[in-house]
Amino acid sequence: MADGSSETKSSNQMWGGRFASGPDAIMEEINASIGFDKKLYAQDIRGSIAHATMLAHQGIISAEDKDKIVHGLDTILSEIESGAFEFSRRLEDIHMNVEARLATLIGPAAGRLHTARSRNDQVALDFRLWVKEELQKTEKALTALIAAFLDRAEEHADTVMPGFTHLQTAQPVTFGHHCMAYVEMFGRDRSRVRHAIEHMDESPIGAAALAGTGFPIDRHMTAKALGFREPTRNSIDTVSDRDFALEFLSIASIAATHLSRLAEEIVIWSTPQFGFIRLSDAFSTGSSIMPQKKNPDAAELVRAKTGRINGSLIALLTVMKGLPLAYSKDMQEDKEQVFDAAESLELAIAAMTGMVRDMSVRADRMKAAAGSGYSTATDLADWLVREAGLPFRDAHHVTGRAVALAEQKSCDLADLSLADLQSIDAAITEKVFDVLTVEASVASRTSFGGTAPAEVRKQIAWWRARN
Ligand code: ARG
Repeated sequence: MADGSSETKSSNQMWGGRFASGPDAIMEEINASIGFDKKLYAQDIRGSIAHATMLAHQGIISAEDKDKIVHGLDTILSEIESGAFEFSRRLEDIHMNVEARLATLIGPAAGRLHTARSRNDQVALDFRLWVKEELQKTEKALTALIAAFLDRAEEHADTVMPGFTHLQTAQPVTFGHHCMAYVEMFGRDRSRVRHAIEHMDESPIGAAALAGTGFPIDRHMTAKALGFREPTRNSIDTVSDRDFALEFLSIASIAATHLSRLAEEIVIWSTPQFGFIRLSDAFSTGSSIMPQKKNPDAAELVRAKTGRINGSLIALLTVMKGLPLAYSKDMQEDKEQVFDAAESLELAIAAMTGMVRDMSVRADRMKAAAGSGYSTATDLADWLVREAGLPFRDAHHVTGRAVALAEQKSCDLADLSLADLQSIDAAITEKVFDVLTVEASVASRTSFGGTAPAEVRKQIAWWRARN
């Protein structure tokens, strides 16, 4: 990028009419956004082509000028894409960089492009188009992640593992069921993405600086050409609004929070102490000093990216909270937050999709852990209610005594003898042993949404039809 330091003495060619001299170098540095908003070049050019086409259609500019403008903009697009374009900080932002180059390429006709628009509606348009496309990418990425989970869930619909509350063994569940919990979470994220796309599907262009314009523009025409459902309805709101960026960041923060919880579980599961999964070599690293180690770095980085994405949401909320209507330059600070969060989220979803797809599940370790920690105690209590007619609170108490006895004998509930159990409650019979295994426990949980393999398979089928 040209730093333009030798050019700072002349006033800005786009808005410099009333300025006798150019900006101070520090002013130029704080003011310029080209360093990051050049990312919007394709949206800026698309928006300008739609605007020029509408201006000509409405008789506001001539067809010849429109053709020159469109041709020039096409040239600029290829220059930028081939790397030949020289961005200049003196020209502040992407909008003025493109327009200045257009003037060099086509001469005075370039000056007609900015009729009936302002950079305020132009930037609102460019950024909205960019965020909308990013949301469409996010939707696809989430679909791939959900697909990876559905495959693992299907494969492990019968694999028993301990379910936890407070990270203490609670009740046996299946790994398939646990995977489907993430499908629900990422499914909600995806539906938030879809709602946000619908929400922001209104075209800002034509709001002009803030008040609209006296030129006979057709905002429905530009909205349609740019793939929006309709134009925005209030020009003041249009140039003041960054809800679409805030919505993107809040959706990203919630999705990242889900990814971070998954990352945390992967970190825990892959420890030698748990040993529930083995990460593939492709998604882990070694230690430079301890040869035995295999570290879950990708999962840890996903967990950390969440902090960064949440930070972006808070940063933009804070930028926006004190702004009077309509546009203020503060709003230029919206883009870096969104660009950074979008890059982090894309990477985090892709890394997680790879980890979930590639990790090997150690069903033997999961099953062994599922049976420890008296995980079938609730099954014993439920049996006492069902078969011996005890009120649940009494059954809970009897079971507590059985657990204490097993603890004293250092064995599992299923290893207690019938005589042991009958010494606690005479109503217990041989049949109780049918419910004390982890397989019997999970198979019995057939309530809608429960962990029984048959029920989990139903959930998988429901999602398959929607993914
Ligand atoms: N670079 C500016 C931004 O990103 C474009 C809009 C500038 N508008 C203005 N009135 N100075 O917000």
